[in-house]
Amino acid sequence: MDNIVSLKNLVMNFEDGEQILHGINLDIKDKEFVTLLGPSGCGKTTTLRIIAGFLEPTSGDVFFDGRRINGVPPHKRNVNTVFQRYALFPHLNVYENIAFGLRVKKTPEKEVVRRVGEMLELVNLKGFEKRSVNHLSGGQQQRVAIARALVNRPKVLLLDEPLGALDLKLRKEMQVELRKIQQALELTFVYVTHDQEEALTMSDTVVVMNNGSIQQIGSPTDIYNEPVNAFVADFIGESNIVNGCMPRDFLVEFAGKRFECVDKGFSPNETVDVVIRPEDIKIIPAESAKLTGIVESVVFKGVHYEMIVDGVDHKWMIHSTKHAPVGTMIGMNFDPDDIHIMKKTEVDG
Ligand SMILES: Nc1ncnc2c1ncn2[C@@H]1O[C@H](COP(=O)(O)OP(=O)(O)O)[C@@H](O)[C@H]1O
Ligand SMILES: [Mg+2]
Repeated sequence: MDNIVSLKNLVMNFEDGEQILHGINLDIKDKEFVTLLGPSGCGKTTTLRIIAGFLEPTSGDVFFDGRRINGVPPHKRNVNTVFQRYALFPHLNVYENIAFGLRVKKTPEKEVVRRVGEMLELVNLKGFEKRSVNHLSGGQQQRVAIARALVNRPKVLLLDEPLGALDLKLRKEMQVELRKIQQALELTFVYVTHDQEEALTMSDTVVVMNNGSIQQIGSPTDIYNEPVNAFVADFIGESNIVNGCMPRDFLVEFAGKRFECVDKGFSPNETVDVVIRPEDIKIIPAESAKLTGIVESVVFKGVHYEMIVDGVDHKWMIHSTKHAPVGTMIGMNFDPDDIHIMKKTEVDG
């Protein structure tokens, strides 16, 4: 598959001199669903605006279909954007909101009718043509915004937290619908969210960002199972992160004990971050455990219990279908391949 969008060494300095992007390199494949994921303020929207052409990078290049497009104005890029605030035209009805981009291009009336019809079908709004957009629900307004962005048939759709204003149930439904639309039309979607679950469920590729830099690029399973550093591990799902060191290959020391692990290639006694997922910790009898702690809290989360266990020098979070009462001493155990060893990196946040 060919790259449809490539970003090379993008640097963005705003006028106050602050550097917001520190050299972004990213290849986006044709027909791919790519999500930029990271905490608020990490530079997701800035990156998207550079792809759209609303913002020129301080340095670095943007390629579209192999062609450098720095300086090409937004309306001449084969790209369209859907924003969180839908910015529909309040004085136009549903039909005319969707038709807007075609009218600007002086598209013949017959073709407008056909293409708006296709879009209404695509986003499930047939019968709503004459409605004022002010009388639609949030979810319906977002559908109009998506139809309006797609009617000109861009090759790439940029979506900036498009579901952020919807309640949880509607958001889940729209996630499924957006994915269907992307696959049906064989489009490239570049999606921005700070919601890790949304990113993992929708995307082919997740790009984890922090402080203006890309931390990791990978499939949802790669990102979840093999986070490259403590920031990614912590941001993608809850994790236990403790300081440790590697006495030798396949052996890690933390919480005052040594454990077999599957990692190698560290210098002797190198200090590392040790990451263990809450769902990978098994509760065993305290007598037979290397690691013990006192149960501090238990909360039922619907499918599992979430327990905080005080292990003296570290509090452990455990997700398990079994639980032990508050105040009891339990043992904790994990398999060698559930221990993830990460090189120490300069991480904040
Ligand atoms: N026009 C601007 N001038 C100065 N700083 C800006 C401007 N736009 C965004 N920023 C800053 O850039 C950083 C990244 O912003 P943004 O890309 O919107 O992050 P995100 O979308 O990941 O939340 C933030 O610290 C924000 O305050
Ligand atoms: Mg943003």
